[in-house]
Amino acid sequence: DSFDIIVPASTANLGPGFDSVGMALNRHLSLTITPSEVWEVELIAGDLEGIPTDESNFIIEIAKWLADKWNEPLPPVHIGMVSNIPLARGFGSSATAIVAGIELTNQLLHLHLTDEEKVQWATLYEGHPDNVAPSIYGGLVVGHHDEEGTEIVRAGIPAIDLVALIPDYPVSTSKSRDALPETLNYAEAVKASSISNVQVAAMMRNDWTLAGRMMKKDRFHRPYRYLNIPEWKQAEEIADQLPVYGATLSGAGPIILFFTPQGTGEEMKSRIQRAFPESTIECLQPDPHGVT
Ligand code: HSE
Repeated sequence: DSFDIIVPASTANLGPGFDSVGMALNRHLSLTITPSEVWEVELIAGDLEGIPTDESNFIIEIAKWLADKWNEPLPPVHIGMVSNIPLARGFGSSATAIVAGIELTNQLLHLHLTDEEKVQWATLYEGHPDNVAPSIYGGLVVGHHDEEGTEIVRAGIPAIDLVALIPDYPVSTSKSRDALPETLNYAEAVKASSISNVQVAAMMRNDWTLAGRMMKKDRFHRPYRYLNIPEWKQAEEIADQLPVYGATLSGAGPIILFFTPQGTGEEMKSRIQRAFPESTIECLQPDPHGVT
């Protein structure tokens, strides 16, 4: 029998919460799964250009990787795919594929995995929880991952709107990570972590004005990465002029995300569009729901 898997996109880091903080967004990867003689992927609609339709598809690869842990063969299925998540732009599209692959095996092998177990598997694969955890839980999450496992705090559904400037070029996360330094000295690390601490505490009290101020102070990746995005400098000037809380790169970029007071997203979108008449600008909201 057929069934659907729906996974929300996410934005990672939210500034100084590097590799730790993430939030689900109301953009989705939607799959319709039907029994089949062979593995097949049908790209039905949306941002799916270049995605393999055979067994080399990343979702199938993840599904088999997880099934191997149970030593069980997976019955082949037909996957009908629809997505409105731009690929390789900073909305966690690869994390949605990881979560979708895990959910596929969960359903096909009747594993009854809890959300906590899905997060453990997904983070084991991804290496950091900031995209996979919000795609599993929905809302805002704060996470930590090391060889002992993954710790996640669910931090609710932020009362904010978001405006995304979506450049028309992709950025590879690994290249974007290559721009980061190998080490941070002790004094720098102490300062950087105090900035993240205040940002997380502010978010959890819904004080986005303070969270926005902390976004500007990030020392983990902003000084190294942001200026590689040509639109960033002007976007930052606009964020300083408009009544918005702040702006960050979404994950490894290139999407630039403006955090705006709830109810002002559409108005901020038109004002940002005026400054970037040629760019794709979209209004989004936090998504309260994780994978279903
Ligand atoms: N925290 C990750 C990064 C998110 O910024 O590189 C993108 O995978």
